[in-house]
Amino acid sequence: MLHPLNTDLIARTADFVREKFLHEGSGHDWEHIRRVWQVARALAEETPEANPLITELGALLHDVADWKFHDGDEEAGPRAARAWLEGLQADEHVIRAVETIIREVSFKGVGVPTPMSTVEGALVQDADRLDAIGAIGVARAFAYGGHKGRPLHDPDIPPVQHESFASYKQNVAPTINHFYEKLLHLQERLHTPAAQRVAAQRHAFMETFLTQFLREWEGQDLHPA
Ligand code: ADP
Ligand code: NI
Repeated sequence: MLHPLNTDLIARTADFVREKFLHEGSGHDWEHIRRVWQVARALAEETPEANPLITELGALLHDVADWKFHDGDEEAGPRAARAWLEGLQADEHVIRAVETIIREVSFKGVGVPTPMSTVEGALVQDADRLDAIGAIGVARAFAYGGHKGRPLHDPDIPPVQHESFASYKQNVAPTINHFYEKLLHLQERLHTPAAQRVAAQRHAFMETFLTQFLREWEGQDLHPA
């Protein structure tokens, strides 16, 4: 159970993040944060060793200043979270735990391991990754691609297995490539059995989507066999 003071800390943080993200159109909208928060909270309820305050604050603040929108400054997120939580006089150990979650949470390329050093971080990463797959994952990928002016697909540009964060960051490929470079790999990179169960059907849906997309692209559905 959360102490009332901690419930207040979470509610104020939710208001702060909602305000900040309400008009963001790149797939980092408040509704993404809200879903990650709800899923992380549900995972924490099934994980007795997870501190619910750290899990919920980590989920709410995990994208607070994403590197993709801050010229690659990977410390922008932890810095913004610290400034906000210090203003609310949160405990130093809570602030540090949240900073660690933000530093570790992001996907950095298929060939780059992203272990989480805390159980709360593992729950936030699972929740974040579940929101990148399935029907919502498909919608978010194309919203992001549109925001960046990318084509949907180009059969002449093959997907790349990024082996470093630097190469992953520089990616400007068509959006379909993102499925092969990231989204289809997320199912294998989850920590909790609960998230793995949810991921199985979301993953299957993405495969169905891709099969149909490529069939339509090639006009194969015009003349069914
Ligand atoms: P995460 O929250 O796992 O760190 P990101 O912040 O990298 O994910 O991405 C936010 C959303 O934008 C996700 O749904 C992700 O799939 C999508 N996205 C990120 N990079 C690309 C890309 N190159 N093409 C299409 N979608 C992308
Ligand atoms: Ni996120």
